[in-house]
Amino acid sequence: NIFYDDDADISLLKGKTILFIGYGNQGRAQALNFRDTLNYTKTDATILIANLKDSYADRAHEDGFEVTQDWAKATSLADVIFLLVPDQVQPELFNSKIGPSMKPGATVVIASGYNVFYKLLDVPKEANVVMAAPRMIGTSVRTRFVSNAGYPCFVSVEQDATGNAHELALAISRGIGATKAGAIESSAREETLIDLFAEQALWPTVINAFTEAYKLLQANGCSNEALVHELYYSMEPAEIFEKCAEDGFVKQLVYHSKVSQFGQLNGALSLDGSEFASRFERVLKHQIIEGEFMRNFSKMEKSGTLDKEIELLFETAGKTELAVGEKLVFERLGHSYGAA
Ligand code: NAI
Repeated sequence: NIFYDDDADISLLKGKTILFIGYGNQGRAQALNFRDTLNYTKTDATILIANLKDSYADRAHEDGFEVTQDWAKATSLADVIFLLVPDQVQPELFNSKIGPSMKPGATVVIASGYNVFYKLLDVPKEANVVMAAPRMIGTSVRTRFVSNAGYPCFVSVEQDATGNAHELALAISRGIGATKAGAIESSAREETLIDLFAEQALWPTVINAFTEAYKLLQANGCSNEALVHELYYSMEPAEIFEKCAEDGFVKQLVYHSKVSQFGQLNGALSLDGSEFASRFERVLKHQIIEGEFMRNFSKMEKSGTLDKEIELLFETAGKTELAVGEKLVFERLGHSYGAA
């Protein structure tokens, strides 16, 4: 099912207090969209931001919002609570300051299924839990709202205490601009499975394939410049993905030469898929569904070693032929290397 603006009754939010916990990537974009939707639909509701005293809070002030550090008090006033701090921060913050202060019948909104699927939040029985999970980074959630294009978003009801959580989920989705391009009915389980699978099975395979291809071609005399340009610097792969979205994953191959079409299709169809399939299945079942990844991740977060572990992984990945080669190319091209 896909829900559009017309399916959502924004008047359900009339007179309500909408609290955004966190004003980062998603928090800022969603709060700004919400305020614009309330203005545009002439819906009278109050928006509050609860945030640590930091640069994000300063930004919220500059954007004209009322910001508080008193999470418990703000929560006790709120009818709708957007939980938009990082996933690893949510359980501790929610279970200590938010959950115990919620008024009966209030609605918690999550932007990712992770903490609900793994039951890491102690949500009171009298509360609704809905998901509005944009498939988009925060800046695009805002720019695509402003340009009237909208963005894809997964929406679901995870706990219905008031009997109208579905209607509320749609009104809330409309508030953040998620029903403009169509909000897709989903669940915290589905969102978590797809998201974690892409991160832990699909993209690692792509990263590994690129790294091995680079190493082999370099060992066979191909230059760093040629490899970096061919593999991604030219943006050709990005354009191919754009064509996939426009014309279809397979159909976009009509834009390629016959040599390329035959090579790609014949190569893909003759690969032994069972090799991927058994590894993918292990990741999905053991790491994701049975929760092995979540337990390890929580352990690192609690012991304070998560940042160090991630730093070590970056260090190791930075030593591959691809990373060393691309650094040289970026420097020669006078292009700054690495994100700010
Ligand atoms: P973020 O990393 O931008 O969050 C920063 C905010 O969290 C700031 O307001 C900061 O003050 C607050 N914060 C950080 N540590 C805190 C702590 N210990 N206690 C209290 N507040 C703290 O978060 P982001 O990326 O916007 O993620 C929010 C939610 O949106 C998550 O559930 C995430 O999975 C989801 N999401 C994120 C997307 C993205 O593009 N980043 C895309 C779709 C969903």
